[in-house]
Amino acid sequence: MKTVELKKGIYWVGAIDWNVRDFHGYSTPFGTTYNAYLIVDEKTVLVDTVKAPFFSEMLGRISEIIDPSKIDYVIANHVEVDHSGSLPPVVEKIGNPTVITSERGAKGLEKYCQRSFQFKIVKTGDTLSLGRRSMAFVEAPMLHWPDSMFTYLKEDHILMPNDAFGQHIASSQRYEDEVGGEVMQHASKYFANILWPLAPLILKKIDEVVKMGIPIDMIAPSHGLIWRRDPGRIVQAYVDWSQGKARDKIIIIYDTMWGSTEGMAKAILRGLTEEGIETKLLLLKATHRSDILEEMLEAKGILFGSPTLNNGMFPTLGDFLTYMKGLKPMGKVFGLFESYGWGGGAVKEMRKTLEENKFEVWDKECRVQYLPDSSELKNAFQFGRDFAKRVLGK
Ligand code: FEO
Repeated sequence: MKTVELKKGIYWVGAIDWNVRDFHGYSTPFGTTYNAYLIVDEKTVLVDTVKAPFFSEMLGRISEIIDPSKIDYVIANHVEVDHSGSLPPVVEKIGNPTVITSERGAKGLEKYCQRSFQFKIVKTGDTLSLGRRSMAFVEAPMLHWPDSMFTYLKEDHILMPNDAFGQHIASSQRYEDEVGGEVMQHASKYFANILWPLAPLILKKIDEVVKMGIPIDMIAPSHGLIWRRDPGRIVQAYVDWSQGKARDKIIIIYDTMWGSTEGMAKAILRGLTEEGIETKLLLLKATHRSDILEEMLEAKGILFGSPTLNNGMFPTLGDFLTYMKGLKPMGKVFGLFESYGWGGGAVKEMRKTLEENKFEVWDKECRVQYLPDSSELKNAFQFGRDFAKRVLGK
């Protein structure tokens, strides 16, 4: 097994999950990694572990570097089982090492693992000397769980922020600069589907870390590739996404029963295009909800189109809105359109859901009975043009 040395005495010893395709509802067509790091000094530390089925893979990597029984500390930056799942077998294998974690981390680990550990509880500003080098800890509650914390290697200038700044991508390579430009796109999908609702906390935490004035040469997250080429790029991207920085882009999210809503969607798309705006059609039954969230991240406007079914929205719209509202994509303008047979109701139900969750919804709507005729398609085209003007503030 190949181990990778980040800096002298600091190793990646994680595992690569080539085949995971669903990560708690998030599609992962490129797999992921569970990153763990081993620091060998006068004291030896394992930073995080891996998902339980990958314990042997991690242990194999550790065993190529040292005898695992030499590990003095295991740091648990985060309780979630993709990082703590191998903590019980690690502890059993190497004796009874001290587990360093936050106060909430200790409670969570005991509950998840249903056993006790020998804990050392740390909080922001606490440090640990390993001999020639030392580490500092920064609590990061709700980034993205209450227990989350970051570990910083002071002399090596490496930040290990666990889930923050990660990406779901399996690769034979370990560094972002080794695999080309698509890593930032994977990072944006990860942000949109995991961290977006925490945007205000992210801005505060980045500000707090910047004010600490700590140099960062490398950001080594718990998923995906390590940022070593100008790691400030991913920090700036998190600032931009958290602040809602968007392009002149409107996406149309829709479903269709017999083609009427799709006909409207295409006419609206032509209207948006006429106004020179970047746009995209996203058919719900053909596009995973997590890919749509990624498309939403840098869009200024979102249009939802639905056929009416049983006086309400189509079930795929209900599924998507349930997922989306929890991720709080605020700062967008939403517009609505529907087709219906007799009474309608899709737009009404979608509006109610959006407004109850404090999203900004445009007053104007586009509704068509049965199949849109040429005059109704012209109206839909104009609806698209007007929505583009509304979003662009023309
Ligand atoms: Fe990668 Fe929150 O676990």
